[in-house]
Amino acid sequence: MRASLVLLAVLPLAAGVAVACSSSAPAPSAPGAPTPEPGTDAGVTDYPVITLEAEPQRPGDPAKGYRALVNEAYVPCGIPDSAYSRVYGPAAEGDRIKGREGRNATLPYNFTAMTTKEGVRLVTSNCLTCHAGRIEGKLLVGLGAADGDFTNSPAGTASLVGNLVNDPQERAEYEKWNERVQTAAPYSVLSTRGPNPADAFTAVLFAHHDPKTMAWSKTPLFEVAPPVDLPVDVPPWWRMKKKTSMFYSGAGRGDHARIEMTASVLCTSSVEESRAIDAYFADVRAYIASIEAPKYPHAIDTALAEQGRTVFEATCSRCHGTYGGDDTYPNRLVTLPEIGTDPLLGSGAGQFGEPFVKWYGDSFFGELARFEPKEGYIAPPLDGIWATAPYLHNGSVPTVAALLDSTQRPTYWTRDFDDSSAYDQAALGWVFTALDHGKAGATGSKKQKAEIYDTTLPGYSNAGHTFGDALTPEDRAAVIEYLKTL
Ligand code: HEC
Ligand code: HEC
Repeated sequence: MRASLVLLAVLPLAAGVAVACSSSAPAPSAPGAPTPEPGTDAGVTDYPVITLEAEPQRPGDPAKGYRALVNEAYVPCGIPDSAYSRVYGPAAEGDRIKGREGRNATLPYNFTAMTTKEGVRLVTSNCLTCHAGRIEGKLLVGLGAADGDFTNSPAGTASLVGNLVNDPQERAEYEKWNERVQTAAPYSVLSTRGPNPADAFTAVLFAHHDPKTMAWSKTPLFEVAPPVDLPVDVPPWWRMKKKTSMFYSGAGRGDHARIEMTASVLCTSSVEESRAIDAYFADVRAYIASIEAPKYPHAIDTALAEQGRTVFEATCSRCHGTYGGDDTYPNRLVTLPEIGTDPLLGSGAGQFGEPFVKWYGDSFFGELARFEPKEGYIAPPLDGIWATAPYLHNGSVPTVAALLDSTQRPTYWTRDFDDSSAYDQAALGWVFTALDHGKAGATGSKKQKAEIYDTTLPGYSNAGHTFGDALTPEDRAAVIEYLKTL
């Protein structure tokens, strides 16, 4: 029962949408080009330099925003608390977070209590199912959950919850939630544990809302392509301090608060209901933009890190910016031909075409925000990068060391998802086991198969971003040491 709520009652802020923005890629510059100034593109590339400029954001109060994030029911449907309580007691200590009020104090961090107008008490989902994660035993709000398991359809479990609900009013609330879960279920399943299906199932929920009135429609209002296995690694929230756009493809433009409340569409049915949530989302946005990346908790060789800084500023800063006080960050969108990483998300999966972007623009969300997907990926700020393994937008590379030396990237790999202390301080990332076979050759249980990351599958490629390959082993080690300081 818990699984189904986790899987589905949540709703992602999808994005990596389609819509062409084709830029023909000129050839890279000739060998022997002059060394650039740190942090500039001079002499390095003939690829287009695309900068996403800042846009005005509604001001908000970060403290109020945190309070709302962990107490308000902005995904306002769920399962009756009576049914929840028959199965689950109070949350374990390790699943509780600070600042929770009333019933929320005894619920796990990723559930929020609400009482409907009719007085029915529900347990609903919240952002933290996907946006709180564990690293070295600590639960961090804002770290993407890298251990999510979306490999089973929530449809069956959601139906079973119905057996626990008898009261007619509670029954009506359950039916509302279950209908939406069943609608999104086929789009909520991935072949692989770790990545997240948010981008895949948001579109279908949009398609079931009238954009003007936000009324729910049992049938889709426009055609949605069949489900695609589209893996996305949940990004950490602290990047929003520097980012002018949202999402890997830079698709989220305009007012971030309005986009950040998108998860509500799992449950909302009217503009009025959406506005009530929007009223406190400027505060939630301000909280998200205030989060600091966690400091690296182990020893750092500062002399080596300083050497690494020089290499980083010469090789990486033009895309990733500079750090250490007077930070600079270019908000740069790197086109697919230049970055060379898996193109599925950055060129738009089938069902994320024109109708989805258009729906967004026509809807309540479109009043203040827009989806403008680009064919490429934002070079992210690297603050707290030690904590955000696996790497690349699809989570295809388990460590920074492997990201910076593409010959070291495993084609097939697995790891222990249930032990967040299985962390490799030297390679900066998860301890992993390279395998000699992918899912096709797997003989173990369904679970073991789901825990194999198979980079030969569409969407799961670990190619591209080869900017670390030309470094000497010494320089690479120095850059890794430097990255621990960010
Ligand atoms: C089911 C999982 C899920 C839930 C629930 C969810 N998100 Fe996300 N979120 C994602 C994924 C996946 C992405 C990355 C999508 C992309 O970039 O294409 C994302 C991206 C974001 C980003 C952009 C980060 C960046 O660096 O661009 C923000 C901000 C964000 N979510 C806020 C929220 C808030 C606030 C909520 C709750 C109201 C929420 N999300 C609920 C999965 C989720
Ligand atoms: C031409 C621009 C560019 C250069 C140069 C560049 N990067 Fe990147 N980097 C990117 C982009 C774009 C991504 C995101 C790609 C994706 O997710 O598919 C990225 C992703 C990363 C990530 C993974 C982030 C995550 O959480 O998934 C790390 C770490 C990183 N780069 C480090 C470096 C280092 C270190 C260097 C220098 C040796 C470097 N990059 C050079 C553009 C660049």
